[in-house]
Amino acid sequence: MSQGSAPSTGPSYVSVEPNISAQYFEAERERIFKRVWLQVGRAETIPNPGDYFIKELAVLDASVLVIRGRDGVLRAFHNLCRHRGNRLVNQSAGSAKAFACGFHGWTYSSEGELVNIPLEQEFPGCNKAKLGLIRLALDVWEGFIFVHWNSAPEQSLRDYLSPVAALLDGFPFANLELSGSWGASLNSNWKTFQDAFLEAYHVLAVHRRSIPDFRKDPLVTGAQLMGKHCKLTYYQNMLHEPKPAEALAFKLSSSAFLSIDRTNELKNRRWPALNSARRDNWVFDEFVIFPNFHLFLGDGWMLCHEFWPTTVDHTDWQVKYYQQRSNSPAVKIAQEYSKVAMRDAIREDLSTIENTHAAQRLGAMPFMTLSPSLESLIVHHHSVVADYVGARPTRVEA
Ligand code: FES
Ligand SMILES: [Fe+2]
Repeated sequence: MSQGSAPSTGPSYVSVEPNISAQYFEAERERIFKRVWLQVGRAETIPNPGDYFIKELAVLDASVLVIRGRDGVLRAFHNLCRHRGNRLVNQSAGSAKAFACGFHGWTYSSEGELVNIPLEQEFPGCNKAKLGLIRLALDVWEGFIFVHWNSAPEQSLRDYLSPVAALLDGFPFANLELSGSWGASLNSNWKTFQDAFLEAYHVLAVHRRSIPDFRKDPLVTGAQLMGKHCKLTYYQNMLHEPKPAEALAFKLSSSAFLSIDRTNELKNRRWPALNSARRDNWVFDEFVIFPNFHLFLGDGWMLCHEFWPTTVDHTDWQVKYYQQRSNSPAVKIAQEYSKVAMRDAIREDLSTIENTHAAQRLGAMPFMTLSPSLESLIVHHHSVVADYVGARPTRVEA
Protein backbone atom coordinates (compact mmCIF):
# COMPACT_ATOMS: atom_id res chain seq x y z
CA MET A 1 0.00 0.00 0.00
CA SER A 2 1.33 3.41 -0.84
CA GLN A 3 0.80 6.62 1.05
CA GLY A 4 -1.55 9.16 -0.41
CA SER A 5 -5.13 10.27 -0.72
CA ALA A 6 -8.05 8.19 -1.76
CA PRO A 7 -9.09 8.05 -5.41
CA SER A 8 -11.66 10.71 -6.15
CA THR A 9 -13.87 9.05 -8.72
CA GLY A 10 -16.51 6.35 -8.63
CA PRO A 11 -17.88 4.38 -5.71
CA SER A 12 -16.09 1.26 -4.53
CA TYR A 13 -18.10 -1.93 -4.49
CA VAL A 14 -16.63 -4.09 -1.76
CA SER A 15 -17.78 -7.69 -1.39
CA VAL A 16 -19.40 -8.67 1.92
CA GLU A 17 -18.21 -12.26 1.51
CA PRO A 18 -15.05 -11.72 3.63
CA ASN A 19 -17.32 -10.52 6.46
CA ILE A 20 -19.47 -13.65 6.54
CA SER A 21 -17.30 -16.50 5.31
CA ALA A 22 -16.09 -18.90 8.00
CA GLN A 23 -13.38 -20.08 5.63
CA TYR A 24 -12.15 -16.53 5.11
CA PHE A 25 -12.12 -16.01 8.86
CA GLU A 26 -9.93 -19.09 9.32
CA ALA A 27 -7.52 -17.60 6.78
CA GLU A 28 -7.53 -14.31 8.70
CA ARG A 29 -6.64 -16.13 11.91
CA GLU A 30 -3.72 -17.92 10.32
CA ARG A 31 -2.45 -15.30 7.91
CA ILE A 32 -3.14 -12.09 9.82
CA PHE A 33 -3.49 -12.56 13.55
CA LYS A 34 -0.70 -15.15 13.78
CA ARG A 35 1.61 -13.04 11.65
CA VAL A 36 1.34 -9.49 12.96
CA TRP A 37 2.11 -7.58 16.13
CA LEU A 38 -0.99 -7.21 18.31
CA GLN A 39 -1.52 -4.47 20.88
CA VAL A 40 -2.60 -5.95 24.21
CA GLY A 41 -2.29 -3.23 26.85
CA ARG A 42 -0.28 -0.48 28.51
CA ALA A 43 2.97 -1.02 30.39
CA GLU A 44 2.03 1.27 33.28
CA THR A 45 -0.71 -1.13 34.35
CA ILE A 46 1.98 -3.56 35.55
CA PRO A 47 4.68 -1.26 37.01
CA ASN A 48 6.27 -3.56 39.62
CA PRO A 49 8.16 -6.87 39.49
CA GLY A 50 5.65 -9.74 39.56
CA ASP A 51 2.78 -7.60 38.26
CA TYR A 52 0.89 -9.38 35.52
CA PHE A 53 -2.24 -9.40 33.41
CA ILE A 54 -3.93 -12.01 31.26
CA LYS A 55 -5.04 -11.23 27.73
CA GLU A 56 -7.50 -13.70 26.31
CA LEU A 57 -6.95 -13.89 22.56
CA ALA A 58 -9.75 -16.08 21.28
CA VAL A 59 -8.71 -15.32 17.71
CA LEU A 60 -5.53 -17.30 18.45
CA ASP A 61 -7.27 -19.77 20.77
CA ALA A 62 -4.74 -18.48 23.29
CA SER A 63 -4.58 -17.06 26.76
CA VAL A 64 -1.53 -14.83 27.09
CA LEU A 65 0.17 -14.04 30.38
CA VAL A 66 2.14 -10.78 30.45
CA ILE A 67 4.47 -10.44 33.46
CA ARG A 68 6.99 -7.85 34.57
CA GLY A 69 10.03 -9.77 35.78
CA ARG A 70 12.28 -8.99 38.73
CA ASP A 71 14.62 -7.43 36.17
CA GLY A 72 11.87 -4.99 35.15
CA VAL A 73 11.52 -6.63 31.72
CA LEU A 74 8.06 -7.39 30.32
CA ARG A 75 7.58 -10.87 28.90
CA ALA A 76 4.63 -12.68 27.33
CA PHE A 77 3.91 -16.38 27.78
CA HIS A 78 1.24 -18.83 26.89
CA ASN A 79 -0.84 -19.13 30.04
CA LEU A 80 -0.31 -22.86 30.38
CA CYS A 81 1.72 -25.17 32.56
CA ARG A 82 4.48 -27.21 30.93
CA HIS A 83 3.55 -30.33 32.89
CA ARG A 84 0.29 -31.34 31.25
CA GLY A 85 -1.01 -28.04 30.01
CA ASN A 86 -3.32 -26.83 32.75
CA ARG A 87 -4.18 -23.14 32.63
CA LEU A 88 -1.60 -21.54 34.90
CA VAL A 89 -3.20 -18.25 36.02
CA ASN A 90 -6.92 -17.66 36.36
CA GLN A 91 -7.04 -14.17 37.83
CA SER A 92 -7.19 -11.52 35.08
CA ALA A 93 -4.54 -9.32 36.72
CA GLY A 94 -2.51 -9.15 39.90
CA SER A 95 0.94 -9.45 41.37
CA ALA A 96 2.81 -12.59 42.40
CA LYS A 97 6.31 -13.64 43.43
CA ALA A 98 5.81 -17.00 41.74
CA PHE A 99 3.16 -18.74 39.67
CA ALA A 100 2.09 -22.16 40.93
CA CYS A 101 -0.06 -24.41 38.79
CA GLY A 102 -3.25 -25.48 40.53
CA PHE A 103 -3.11 -29.04 39.14
CA HIS A 104 0.11 -30.52 40.62
CA GLY A 105 1.96 -27.47 41.84
CA TRP A 106 4.68 -26.91 39.24
CA THR A 107 5.89 -23.40 39.95
CA TYR A 108 7.33 -20.70 37.69
CA SER A 109 9.22 -17.49 38.38
CA SER A 110 8.09 -14.08 37.15
CA GLU A 111 10.66 -14.53 34.35
CA GLY A 112 8.92 -17.73 33.27
CA GLU A 113 11.49 -20.23 34.54
CA LEU A 114 10.29 -23.51 36.00
CA VAL A 115 11.60 -23.29 39.57
CA ASN A 116 9.89 -26.13 41.42
CA ILE A 117 8.47 -29.56 40.66
CA PRO A 118 6.84 -31.22 43.66
CA LEU A 119 8.29 -34.73 44.10
CA GLU A 120 10.90 -33.87 41.51
CA GLN A 121 12.74 -37.14 42.20
CA GLU A 122 9.83 -38.92 40.50
CA PHE A 123 10.79 -37.18 37.23
CA PRO A 124 14.30 -38.63 36.78
CA GLY A 125 16.42 -36.76 34.28
CA CYS A 126 13.87 -33.97 33.90
CA ASN A 127 15.65 -30.75 32.91
CA LYS A 128 13.76 -27.88 34.48
CA ALA A 129 15.79 -25.36 32.47
CA LYS A 130 14.07 -26.57 29.30
CA LEU A 131 10.57 -26.43 30.72
CA GLY A 132 10.01 -22.76 31.29
CA LEU A 133 6.81 -21.08 30.18
CA ILE A 134 6.41 -20.87 26.40
CA ARG A 135 7.23 -17.42 25.10
CA LEU A 136 5.49 -15.18 22.65
CA ALA A 137 7.42 -12.22 21.31
CA LEU A 138 6.76 -9.02 23.23
CA ASP A 139 7.90 -5.50 22.54
CA VAL A 140 6.84 -2.11 23.80
CA TRP A 141 6.37 1.10 21.85
CA GLU A 142 5.64 4.26 23.83
CA GLY A 143 4.10 2.21 26.64
CA PHE A 144 1.90 0.12 24.34
CA ILE A 145 2.59 -3.59 24.78
CA PHE A 146 2.50 -5.65 21.60
CA VAL A 147 2.80 -9.41 21.34
CA HIS A 148 3.48 -11.66 18.38
CA TRP A 149 2.45 -15.29 18.03
CA ASN A 150 5.85 -16.14 16.60
CA SER A 151 8.50 -15.98 19.33
CA ALA A 152 11.02 -14.69 16.75
CA PRO A 153 9.06 -12.51 14.31
CA GLU A 154 10.57 -11.66 10.96
CA GLN A 155 9.67 -8.00 11.36
CA SER A 156 10.49 -5.88 14.42
CA LEU A 157 7.66 -4.02 16.12
CA ARG A 158 9.33 -0.77 15.12
CA ASP A 159 9.27 -1.69 11.43
CA TYR A 160 5.77 -3.06 11.70
CA LEU A 161 4.47 0.24 13.10
CA SER A 162 6.12 2.35 10.41
CA PRO A 163 5.32 5.10 9.51
CA VAL A 164 3.02 5.74 12.49
CA ALA A 165 5.66 5.15 15.16
CA ALA A 166 7.96 7.89 13.92
CA LEU A 167 5.12 10.43 14.07
CA LEU A 168 4.35 9.68 17.69
CA ASP A 169 7.76 8.78 19.14
CA GLY A 170 8.10 10.71 22.38
CA PHE A 171 4.43 11.63 22.61
CA PRO A 172 3.67 12.50 26.26
CA PHE A 173 1.45 9.49 26.90
CA ALA A 174 2.60 9.55 30.53
CA ASN A 175 0.66 12.81 31.03
CA LEU A 176 -2.57 10.94 30.40
CA GLU A 177 -4.42 8.82 32.91
CA LEU A 178 -7.17 6.26 32.46
CA SER A 179 -10.53 7.88 33.09
CA GLY A 180 -13.00 5.32 31.78
CA SER A 181 -13.32 2.03 29.98
CA TRP A 182 -16.17 0.32 28.23
CA GLY A 183 -16.65 -2.90 26.35
CA ALA A 184 -19.19 -4.98 24.49
CA SER A 185 -19.52 -8.33 22.75
CA LEU A 186 -21.40 -8.00 19.51
CA ASN A 187 -22.68 -10.42 16.92
CA SER A 188 -20.64 -8.93 14.15
CA ASN A 189 -17.63 -9.65 12.05
CA TRP A 190 -14.61 -7.72 13.33
CA LYS A 191 -14.19 -5.80 10.08
CA THR A 192 -17.82 -4.69 10.01
CA PHE A 193 -17.39 -3.46 13.58
CA GLN A 194 -14.25 -1.52 12.69
CA ASP A 195 -15.83 -0.07 9.55
CA ALA A 196 -18.10 2.00 11.82
CA PHE A 197 -14.97 3.69 13.18
CA LEU A 198 -13.25 4.24 9.84
CA GLU A 199 -15.41 7.06 8.55
CA ALA A 200 -17.23 10.14 9.86
CA TYR A 201 -19.99 10.06 7.25
CA HIS A 202 -22.19 8.39 9.88
CA VAL A 203 -22.05 11.40 12.21
CA LEU A 204 -24.91 13.03 10.31
CA ALA A 205 -27.29 10.23 11.15
CA VAL A 206 -25.94 8.03 13.94
CA HIS A 207 -24.88 10.99 16.08
CA ARG A 208 -27.88 13.18 15.23
CA ARG A 209 -28.79 13.32 18.93
CA SER A 210 -25.37 13.76 20.54
CA ILE A 211 -23.85 15.97 17.84
CA PRO A 212 -26.96 17.35 16.10
CA ASP A 213 -25.83 20.48 14.29
CA PHE A 214 -23.20 18.90 12.09
CA ARG A 215 -25.99 19.10 9.51
CA LYS A 216 -25.37 22.84 9.25
CA ASP A 217 -21.88 22.40 7.96
CA PRO A 218 -20.58 19.69 5.68
CA LEU A 219 -18.58 17.29 7.77
CA VAL A 220 -15.15 16.98 6.29
CA THR A 221 -12.56 14.46 7.31
CA GLY A 222 -9.06 13.81 6.18
CA ALA A 223 -8.03 10.28 5.28
CA GLN A 224 -4.45 9.19 4.86
CA LEU A 225 -3.08 5.79 4.00
CA MET A 226 0.03 4.88 5.98
CA GLY A 227 1.16 1.57 4.58
CA LYS A 228 -1.05 -1.11 6.05
CA HIS A 229 -2.11 1.40 8.70
CA CYS A 230 -4.05 4.59 8.09
CA LYS A 231 -5.24 7.78 9.71
CA LEU A 232 -8.58 9.54 9.84
CA THR A 233 -8.70 13.18 10.94
CA TYR A 234 -11.91 14.67 12.26
CA TYR A 235 -12.82 18.32 11.96
CA GLN A 236 -15.80 19.92 13.61
CA ASN A 237 -18.54 22.34 12.74
CA MET A 238 -17.42 25.80 13.82
CA LEU A 239 -21.06 26.91 13.87
CA HIS A 240 -21.84 24.34 16.54
CA GLU A 241 -24.33 25.71 19.06
CA PRO A 242 -23.41 24.36 22.49
CA LYS A 243 -26.10 22.95 24.72
CA PRO A 244 -26.10 24.38 28.28
CA ALA A 245 -23.95 21.59 29.75
CA GLU A 246 -21.54 21.84 26.83
CA ALA A 247 -21.31 25.61 27.18
CA LEU A 248 -20.33 25.23 30.82
CA ALA A 249 -17.76 22.54 30.03
CA PHE A 250 -16.28 24.64 27.20
CA LYS A 251 -16.05 27.63 29.55
CA LEU A 252 -14.24 25.57 32.18
CA SER A 253 -11.70 24.05 29.79
CA SER A 254 -10.97 24.52 26.12
CA SER A 255 -9.86 20.90 26.04
CA ALA A 256 -13.46 19.75 26.68
CA PHE A 257 -14.63 17.34 23.96
CA LEU A 258 -15.80 19.28 20.87
CA SER A 259 -14.91 22.66 22.37
CA ILE A 260 -14.83 25.26 19.60
CA ASP A 261 -12.51 27.84 21.09
CA ARG A 262 -9.06 26.34 21.33
CA THR A 263 -6.62 28.55 23.18
CA ASN A 264 -3.26 29.36 21.67
CA GLU A 265 -1.68 27.80 24.72
CA LEU A 266 -3.48 24.56 23.91
CA LYS A 267 -2.52 24.75 20.24
CA ASN A 268 1.11 25.44 21.09
CA ARG A 269 1.20 22.43 23.37
CA ARG A 270 -0.26 20.18 20.68
CA TRP A 271 1.99 17.42 19.39
CA PRO A 272 3.44 18.56 16.02
CA ALA A 273 2.35 15.44 14.11
CA LEU A 274 -1.30 15.99 15.05
CA ASN A 275 -3.57 18.17 12.91
CA SER A 276 -1.06 18.01 10.07
CA ALA A 277 -3.30 20.26 7.92
CA ARG A 278 -3.20 22.88 10.72
CA ARG A 279 -6.92 23.58 10.58
CA ASP A 280 -8.67 25.60 13.29
CA ASN A 281 -11.54 23.14 13.51
CA TRP A 282 -9.41 20.05 14.17
CA VAL A 283 -10.82 17.68 16.79
CA PHE A 284 -8.68 14.55 16.70
CA ASP A 285 -6.54 12.21 14.65
CA GLU A 286 -7.43 8.52 14.66
CA PHE A 287 -4.48 6.26 13.91
CA VAL A 288 -5.63 2.84 12.78
CA ILE A 289 -2.93 0.31 13.58
CA PHE A 290 -3.51 -2.80 11.51
CA PRO A 291 -5.25 -5.06 12.18
CA ASN A 292 -7.44 -4.13 15.15
CA PHE A 293 -6.14 -1.22 17.22
CA HIS A 294 -7.49 2.32 16.81
CA LEU A 295 -5.67 5.11 18.63
CA PHE A 296 -7.50 8.44 18.85
CA LEU A 297 -5.52 11.48 19.98
CA GLY A 298 -7.17 14.83 20.73
CA ASP A 299 -6.32 17.85 22.83
CA GLY A 300 -5.80 16.41 26.30
CA TRP A 301 -7.30 12.99 25.65
CA MET A 302 -6.76 9.60 24.04
CA LEU A 303 -9.08 6.75 23.12
CA CYS A 304 -7.81 3.22 22.55
CA HIS A 305 -10.16 0.86 20.75
CA GLU A 306 -9.43 -2.86 20.40
CA PHE A 307 -11.56 -5.10 18.17
CA TRP A 308 -11.01 -8.77 18.97
CA PRO A 309 -12.71 -11.35 16.78
CA THR A 310 -13.83 -14.55 18.44
CA THR A 311 -15.59 -16.10 15.44
CA VAL A 312 -16.53 -14.88 11.98
CA ASP A 313 -19.79 -13.63 13.51
CA HIS A 314 -18.66 -12.31 16.86
CA THR A 315 -16.32 -9.63 18.17
CA ASP A 316 -15.28 -8.47 21.62
CA TRP A 317 -14.65 -4.75 21.72
CA GLN A 318 -12.81 -2.85 24.43
CA VAL A 319 -12.24 0.88 24.62
CA LYS A 320 -10.26 2.89 27.13
CA TYR A 321 -10.52 6.66 27.53
CA TYR A 322 -7.59 8.62 28.91
CA GLN A 323 -7.46 12.27 29.90
CA GLN A 324 -4.76 14.75 30.82
CA ARG A 325 -3.75 14.59 34.46
CA SER A 326 -5.09 17.70 36.21
CA ASN A 327 -5.72 18.94 39.75
CA SER A 328 -7.94 21.79 38.63
CA PRO A 329 -11.57 21.34 39.74
CA ALA A 330 -12.72 23.31 36.68
CA VAL A 331 -10.82 21.03 34.32
CA LYS A 332 -12.08 17.98 36.20
CA ILE A 333 -15.68 19.07 35.67
CA ALA A 334 -15.04 19.62 31.96
CA GLN A 335 -13.36 16.22 31.78
CA GLU A 336 -16.32 14.50 33.44
CA TYR A 337 -18.60 16.14 30.91
CA SER A 338 -16.28 15.00 28.11
CA LYS A 339 -16.24 11.44 29.39
CA VAL A 340 -20.03 11.22 29.40
CA ALA A 341 -20.26 12.86 25.97
CA MET A 342 -17.72 10.40 24.61
CA ARG A 343 -19.53 7.44 26.16
CA ASP A 344 -22.85 8.51 24.69
CA ALA A 345 -21.36 9.02 21.23
CA ILE A 346 -19.71 5.61 21.35
CA ARG A 347 -22.95 4.00 22.47
CA GLU A 348 -24.60 5.47 19.37
CA ASP A 349 -21.78 4.02 17.26
CA LEU A 350 -22.70 0.53 18.46
CA SER A 351 -26.34 0.84 17.40
CA THR A 352 -25.87 -0.21 13.77
CA ILE A 353 -23.22 -2.91 13.96
CA GLU A 354 -25.23 -6.07 14.64
CA ASN A 355 -28.00 -5.37 12.16
CA THR A 356 -25.44 -4.50 9.49
CA HIS A 357 -23.71 -7.83 10.01
CA ALA A 358 -27.02 -9.72 10.08
CA ALA A 359 -28.01 -8.12 6.78
CA GLN A 360 -24.71 -9.07 5.20
CA ARG A 361 -25.19 -12.66 6.36
CA LEU A 362 -28.50 -12.85 4.52
CA GLY A 363 -26.65 -13.21 1.26
CA ALA A 364 -29.09 -10.87 -0.43
CA MET A 365 -26.66 -7.97 -0.60
CA PRO A 366 -23.41 -9.06 -2.27
CA PHE A 367 -21.46 -5.84 -1.87
CA MET A 368 -21.24 -2.53 -0.01
CA THR A 369 -21.30 0.72 -2.00
CA LEU A 370 -18.63 2.97 -0.58
CA SER A 371 -17.83 6.61 -1.23
CA PRO A 372 -14.29 7.09 -2.54
CA SER A 373 -13.86 10.22 -0.43
CA LEU A 374 -15.88 9.54 2.72
CA GLU A 375 -15.24 5.80 3.10
CA SER A 376 -11.85 5.28 1.52
CA LEU A 377 -10.35 3.83 4.70
CA ILE A 378 -12.92 1.04 4.76
CA VAL A 379 -11.83 0.11 1.25
CA HIS A 380 -8.22 0.33 2.41
CA HIS A 381 -8.70 -1.85 5.48
CA HIS A 382 -10.53 -4.56 3.55
CA SER A 383 -7.86 -4.37 0.88
CA VAL A 384 -5.01 -4.85 3.36
CA VAL A 385 -6.87 -7.78 4.91
CA ALA A 386 -7.24 -9.32 1.45
CA ASP A 387 -3.53 -8.76 0.78
CA TYR A 388 -2.62 -10.73 3.91
CA VAL A 389 -5.16 -13.43 3.24
CA GLY A 390 -4.13 -13.66 -0.40
CA ALA A 391 -7.73 -13.47 -1.53
CA ARG A 392 -8.03 -10.89 -4.29
CA PRO A 393 -10.26 -9.30 -5.42
CA THR A 394 -12.45 -7.77 -2.71
CA ARG A 395 -13.94 -5.27 -5.15
CA VAL A 396 -16.82 -6.52 -7.23
CA GLU A 397 -18.76 -5.12 -10.14
CA ALA A 398 -22.03 -3.42 -9.23
S1 FES B 1 -0.54 -29.52 34.77
FE1 FES B 1 0.45 -28.02 35.93
S2 FES B 1 1.41 -29.07 37.54
FE2 FES B 1 0.41 -30.61 36.40
FE1 LIG C 1 -19.16 7.67 15.57
